[in-house]
Amino acid sequence: MQPPDRVMNLRQVFVSVLIFGVAGLLLFMYLQAWIEEQHTGTDFILSPPGMTRRAAWNSSAPPGLSKHKMAASGGRHWRGKADPFGVVAASLVSQLSDQQKMSESPLSHFRGVYLPPALHPLNKTLVKGGKWKDVDSAQEKRRSFLHDFCKKYNSRKKLRTHLMHLVSRIYVEDRHKVLYCEVPKAGCSNWKRVLMVLNGLATSAHNISHDDVHYGKHLRRLDSYDLKGIYTRLNTYTKTIFVRDPMERLVSAFRDKFEHPNSYYHPVFGKAIIKKYRHNANEESLKTGSGVKFKEFIQYLLDSHRPVGMDIHWEQVSKLCYPCLISYDFIGKFETLEEDANYFLQLVGAPAELKFPKFKDRHSSDERTSAEVVRQYLKELSKEERQLTYDFYYLDYLMFNYTSPIV
Ligand SMILES: *[C@@H]1O[C@H](CO)[C@@H](O)[C@H](O)[C@H]1NC(C)=O
Ligand SMILES: *[C@@H]1O[C@H](CO)[C@@H](O)[C@H](O)[C@H]1NC(C)=O
Ligand SMILES: *[C@@H]1O[C@H](CO)[C@@H](O)[C@H](O)[C@H]1NC(C)=O
Ligand SMILES: *[C@@H]1O[C@H](CO)[C@@H](O)[C@H](O)[C@H]1NC(C)=O
Repeated sequence: MQPPDRVMNLRQVFVSVLIFGVAGLLLFMYLQAWIEEQHTGTDFILSPPGMTRRAAWNSSAPPGLSKHKMAASGGRHWRGKADPFGVVAASLVSQLSDQQKMSESPLSHFRGVYLPPALHPLNKTLVKGGKWKDVDSAQEKRRSFLHDFCKKYNSRKKLRTHLMHLVSRIYVEDRHKVLYCEVPKAGCSNWKRVLMVLNGLATSAHNISHDDVHYGKHLRRLDSYDLKGIYTRLNTYTKTIFVRDPMERLVSAFRDKFEHPNSYYHPVFGKAIIKKYRHNANEESLKTGSGVKFKEFIQYLLDSHRPVGMDIHWEQVSKLCYPCLISYDFIGKFETLEEDANYFLQLVGAPAELKFPKFKDRHSSDERTSAEVVRQYLKELSKEERQLTYDFYYLDYLMFNYTSPIV
């Protein structure tokens, strides 16, 4: 039997150790959270490929795991670094220049602000005539489908990406209060032509050249405004996005960039792709980067150590336009491009004579990339490559209710 005061002492020592331990643990957890917040700025979406991407890839879409199994296991998969929804606009302040900080006084106000999550009803007062009934009901279905999807998978974390990056692909049209997120290979050139007409930069969409559309610097992007300008427009303008079946978009991008002479994609992407994935490549193709095969292109796309980075023409829509963060009011589809676009023009009160152009401005003699054309290209891939390509665009398939190709 030990003397009572000795027992007392031991008990006190034990309790103190316990209290210090718990306090230490709490401090550690707090610091951890704080450090994580400080690092938010580095989490760029279009970061060069490497370990992070591979890790994200592994955690989000394990090779061979079927859509069914993925869906059944819930949102858990999307919680990692690559989580496309749970991203917070922290460290927003730090990326602004000091001058902006001075002129934008209540900046701290924007720290960690959530982007508008609500689904606003479409204002249909300007729509005339009854012929839009079907287009409208399809639109409402798409809107609530995406909204429900995002609600289900949103992990409610704060933004992990710069706001400026989130809105960097969005074009602004101030007269009719339109925001358009550009998805290449889904009708974007004609959309930009239409925006230029709406803006008063052109009188007709039909005589604006391809180069003028893409390199003319006529249209402003949302990231060129200050924070107040960005938030005001996000909250009051009609936001639209036009998407396309992911595999059709991918094949269309490949055909456009690699099957025709191209002074950027051949030397930059083509050379690197041929060098890495073609055995016994001849000197000519190594020099020009021309003649990349679809299979080689897919090898590059699926490579965790890509010799060249991603490109907007094949980047996932979920990473170009952040459909779960920027709640788009209108979701158009390339498959019903003209009717969707013309209905949208009615909604925003465009002049009656402005119709969405029908023409295909590049390689117009080529057959359009149809489902049948896609099937021919997919035949060149192995079953595993097809599955991995599908997994790569898995979120795009889910968000916009595209049916999976038979892989
Ligand atoms: C990803 O998975 C592949 C095979 O499934 C494995 O070889 C690779 O080491 C994994 N990478 C990471 C970063 O976990
Ligand atoms: C809908 O649009 C019309 C015309 O632009 C406008 O007058 C009206 O205030 C809008 N309604 C709502 C609820 O925003
Ligand atoms: C999703 O796609 C399926 C198959 O094409 C279709 O039957 C269904 O109506 C679509 N759902 C919505 C909300 O559009
Ligand atoms: C396009 O055509 C209209 C007349 O149809 C003309 O007024 C305008 O200057 C043309 N624009 C360009 C860029 O050629």
